Amino acid sequence: MTDQQLIQKAKLARKNAYAPYSNFKVSCALLSSSGKVYTGVNVENASYGLTTCAERMAVFTAVSRGERDFEKIAIVTDTKEPKYLCGACLQVLSEFCQDLKIICATVNGKSRNYTLKELLPKAFKKIR
Ligand code: THU
Repeated sequence: MTDQQLIQKAKLARKNAYAPYSNFKVSCALLSSSGKVYTGVNVENASYGLTTCAERMAVFTAVSRGERDFEKIAIVTDTKEPKYLCGACLQVLSEFCQDLKIICATVNGKSRNYTLKELLPKAFKKIR
């Protein structure tokens, strides 16, 4: 699966993002080591704090299907420049990923590549 194909899958998922409060739709596509792709979108709530980010939605969906290992994730936003992921999502990804490639992209075709280690160099890990 190429980066462009993964970005395309994230773009297709955008229509299901539910963001009536922020009007900021985020969608993503997470590629597991088994070769399957799990998409996620942000789902907001009238009680704002209950909002779930697109990235965590994708990870939790994948883990609920038995996946534990991931290769790369593409995140798409409708912004001039690609956006980073929030710290909470980086931490959740770090639970399952050692060497995750992160592609931050815009709907208009800009993208930048990072690694999880680069964006969260000192993740909190299991205490035992
Ligand atoms: N959001 C994500 O879905 N992922 C991130 O990494 C950062 C923020 C969502 C949450 C909220 O619905 C909207 O973007 C504005 O913060």
